[in-house]
Amino acid sequence: MSQAIKRVLITDPIDKQFVESLRGHGLEVNEKKLSKEQLLVDCRLRLPVLKLIGRAGTGVDNIDVPAATKQGVLVMNTPGANTISAAEHTCALILALSRQIPQAQASLKAGRWDRKLFMGNEVQGKTLAILGLGRIGREVATRMKSFGMTVVGYDPVIPANVIAEFGVKSLSLAEIWPVADYITVHVPLLPETENLINLEVLKKCKKSVNIVNVARGGIVSEPDLLAALKEGLTGGAALDVFTEEPPVSAGLLELLQHPKVICTPHLGASTVEAQERVAADLAEQIGQFITTGKAAGF
Ligand code: NAD
Ligand code: MLT
Repeated sequence: MSQAIKRVLITDPIDKQFVESLRGHGLEVNEKKLSKEQLLVDCRLRLPVLKLIGRAGTGVDNIDVPAATKQGVLVMNTPGANTISAAEHTCALILALSRQIPQAQASLKAGRWDRKLFMGNEVQGKTLAILGLGRIGREVATRMKSFGMTVVGYDPVIPANVIAEFGVKSLSLAEIWPVADYITVHVPLLPETENLINLEVLKKCKKSVNIVNVARGGIVSEPDLLAALKEGLTGGAALDVFTEEPPVSAGLLELLQHPKVICTPHLGASTVEAQERVAADLAEQIGQFITTGKAAGF
């Protein structure tokens, strides 16, 4: 059964192949960059005819999926299409933390020659703890193992023998905190994972521990991380995602300005390859839905 989807509104820039592919299916496609407020107004107006929300990315935490389902609106996303990019970005941040590359570059560009100040550490022989061993977590594991890191991890769903297949030793969280030199989170943002890394946890970790968050803002408590950095309880942090994007509140800006924090503006999936893949994946799913009436996996 063919689905009566006629018009598609694109509210965030997406690879042009996506537009071409949908037009190839005879759909009318409009591109309009909308603020969150405008998007809400637009969605309310369109709600009676809204059939599908497509997310060209992994996380659907910015979509009220139960409410959409209640309204009969199908939600599609593209898990997996940006996995490698997010994993590579995580590895780049771990290495940048170990050698303070962003801080050293800023110093040199400001005219200084601070070779002693930027003494780094090798990652070889250090322990990397990965919380969440799904698509991205396991790609980070295999890459960082090739740098000679000991990789341990925790995932309540993936069995220890499966975790061992990609070279990771499964430990409990209580076992992880005192041994980790780096902790990277690769879990969805859920009530159970919000503030997974908090002040109480940071107090149980090594004072030199580095925290990496390329998953979602709020999995690492931003106020607690700032407090721990100020108290010298934590060695450093690399953050790609934030509770506010872009960050505006004073506390969050203070965290970003901290000399031991390196940060990127949610760039985990920002590669040509990932953006092509998410666009192609979403176009294929929508194409399948309008021609067969079935969503992928159903
Ligand atoms: P995934 O679903 O493949 O893996 C998540 C894993 O987390 C699962 O194996 C699950 O069992 C595990 N998990 C759930 N609750 C847990 C808990 N309390 N403790 C430990 N593990 C737990 O997801 P993924 O594709 O690997 O994505 C991971 C995260 O990265 C998501 O938050 C996603 O939104 C984010 N992401 C960010 C970017 C970026 O641009 N920064 C890009 C892609 C994905
Ligand atoms: C995702 O959920 O896929 C990432 O956070 C990337 C993005 O939102 O663009």
